[in-house]
Amino acid sequence: MPEPSRAAALAADAADPLAFTRARFALPAGVTYLDGNSLGALPVGVAATVADAVTREWGTDLITSWNANGWWGLPARLGDRIGALVGAAPGQVVCGDSTSVQLFQALVALTRLTPGRTRLITDGANFPTDQYLAESAARLLGLELVRVSPAELASVLNERAAVVAFSAVDYRTGELWDAPAVTAAVHGAGARMLWDLAHVAGAVPFDLDGVGADAAVGCSYKYLNGGPGAPAWLYVAARHHDVLDLPLTGWQGHAEPFALHASYAPAAGIERGRIGTPSILGMRALDAALDAFDGVSLTNLRAKSLALTDLVIAYADAYLPGVEPVTPREHARRGSQVALRLEHAYEVTQALIVRGVVGDFRAPDMLRLGLTPLYLRHVDVWDALEALRRVLASGEWRAPRFARAAGGAVT
Ligand SMILES: Cc1ncc(COP(=O)(O)O)c(C=O)c1O
Repeated sequence: MPEPSRAAALAADAADPLAFTRARFALPAGVTYLDGNSLGALPVGVAATVADAVTREWGTDLITSWNANGWWGLPARLGDRIGALVGAAPGQVVCGDSTSVQLFQALVALTRLTPGRTRLITDGANFPTDQYLAESAARLLGLELVRVSPAELASVLNERAAVVAFSAVDYRTGELWDAPAVTAAVHGAGARMLWDLAHVAGAVPFDLDGVGADAAVGCSYKYLNGGPGAPAWLYVAARHHDVLDLPLTGWQGHAEPFALHASYAPAAGIERGRIGTPSILGMRALDAALDAFDGVSLTNLRAKSLALTDLVIAYADAYLPGVEPVTPREHARRGSQVALRLEHAYEVTQALIVRGVVGDFRAPDMLRLGLTPLYLRHVDVWDALEALRRVLASGEWRAPRFARAAGGAVT
């Protein structure tokens, strides 16, 4: 990698085909936001859209809004908008509830597609909620839960495997796994593949249909910028829809929701993935947020994401002794974040925040920098790294106010 410089960063910004999307976000002055992999920034259209949904749709149109303002169709419509960003043809993604709920739905439903098999496989480094839901699903269904890294999958993949559930990008290290190869191996063993795309959707192109995933889930508050608690989403490949037996059989997923039958009969297609009454205000916010992707080429998005993460790695190599990039250097193995391992990572993260550079800390020793291509410039990243260099060189992180209080919250 060439030695980075501020001039090169400015030149990259001048040539950036995605420069136009930064104006689509309401970014706070004096802040460089490198935490979009936790909570994405606020897109400009969201506030007015939500205000309109509150005052006009809810306040004036009241219950007629389910039809007149399209509320009923939002889970499927948003599902298709998200699907377009993760390689899903229309009619296979439904939006709603949380990632955790959707994980439960998918884990149980995929297990029901593989009767007689007894093993549920997840990654011991997976985000905790993925592991907790896998534990519960395994308990409920009488399965053995096996934890293994995607890199070691072959050692546990056999005729006993029912479902393999991995995150495509490791939330701590930023490692991007080889989804086509993993999915093919899982299918080769006769099992089903569930991908968690929380750290993929909106930053890393993915081809759900192309890799042949059976199901996928993701949140909408990271790179999709849908806001805190934004409704999550569930993808199930169309080939499974007719026999798809989801565990949470809410009335909105019924074939005839307004007939109010006593017994459940699933709706056709991905509509059966609806559960209860969706969070309309959250969906309105997400709908407006997704406008930030209008006219955005996913190829350009990926190229910029890689350029920004390259910059972090090259800068660390050149100017930050004692700071080790944990995220893989190969582009094909990298998501849209860089995790830096360093001593006193917690204190350094706090000191950086005071300097207006917001990243986050992941135990035990990582500073995690999320690089959102839609609103970050190369020069923002350069200046943030210069701030990190100053924090380390000056030792300002040693100030008592940055110390980690015992049992205190972790940003
Ligand atoms: C991979 C992954 N899955 C799930 C979640 C969170 O699940 P939920 O949206 O239900 O809080 C996160 C949160 O960061 C995550 O990184």
